[in-house]
Amino acid sequence: MKGKDLLTLSELTPSDIESILSLSARLKSQRETGLGSGALRGKSVALIFEKPSTRTRVSFQVAIGELGGQPISLSSNEMQLGRGETIEDTGRVLSRYVHCIMARVNNHADIVGLAKASRVPVINGLSDLYHPVQVLADLLTLVEHKGQVQKPKVAWVGDGDNVCNSWALGAALTGIDFVAATPRGYEPARDAIKEASAMARSTGATVKVISDPSVAVSGADCVMTDTFVSMGFEKEGRKRRKAFLPKYQVNARLMAKAKKDAIFQHCLPAHRGEEVTAEVIDGPASVVFDEAANRLHTTKALLCFLVLSKSEFSTLKL
Ligand code: CP
Ligand code: NVA
Repeated sequence: MKGKDLLTLSELTPSDIESILSLSARLKSQRETGLGSGALRGKSVALIFEKPSTRTRVSFQVAIGELGGQPISLSSNEMQLGRGETIEDTGRVLSRYVHCIMARVNNHADIVGLAKASRVPVINGLSDLYHPVQVLADLLTLVEHKGQVQKPKVAWVGDGDNVCNSWALGAALTGIDFVAATPRGYEPARDAIKEASAMARSTGATVKVISDPSVAVSGADCVMTDTFVSMGFEKEGRKRRKAFLPKYQVNARLMAKAKKDAIFQHCLPAHRGEEVTAEVIDGPASVVFDEAANRLHTTKALLCFLVLSKSEFSTLKL
């Protein structure tokens, strides 16, 4: 692990990801036995939201509660942050109260500033550039459904957005063949691809960005997409739909080019008839609700990984 924070996903080493995913699987299979209750006893976690959220908000709150900790969910407009207090001062103050801070921010620079000012681990719960906690859940979902495949091929179709950027890093760290098909002008962030390509050299992964969705999806084990209009980009909605549709829609015709048993993932919320058709997202290849469920289990494991000491984590007296 590089540093104390999870801001993009590239802070983790391949073995960190392996530890987090294997603990996630244990916490998932033994949830009903109360495994993990007490791991965060006496610890509080602040959850700051500058943008709406369903999955991130609820999965973090439930995860912290089930681990015996106290979640404190805050909308930025209810905080002094919304009246101009700096993100750095917010981080300095909150980190004197709580043991971890998760924040969903508009500008990635803000989560970087928050992490620098904070004494405790900071988790990016989505910024305009990265969404690392989503990709941990997606990786667990991929392992659950395609664990038997040596080097799975994952095809991303559509916008090279925050989820796609973290996915390029996640694929590079875990030895996946990742290809993103995006229209011109909507490619993933150059820095993310550069970093992912450098990491891929040591893990045997491949990370490619192309423009043809059919080529990307051909022979894929997993096809993924996300909204064409991410939060904060609403004003560009019409222009974006024009750039993406119809070519970048994941429909049955496109899915037919993937492997016969390919799965479909989407971080949600989805827009049926735009980035994906109902026949695909509500069809047999779709694992989107397993993926959403996995947000809870990977979040629990991530919190244990970041908040507990190394020895507490490895001996996990859960
Ligand atoms: N996938 C995801 O992060 O969903 P929310 O925006 O509902 O948190
Ligand atoms: N790319 C989407 C993800 C939502 C979870 C957004 O930023 O709105």
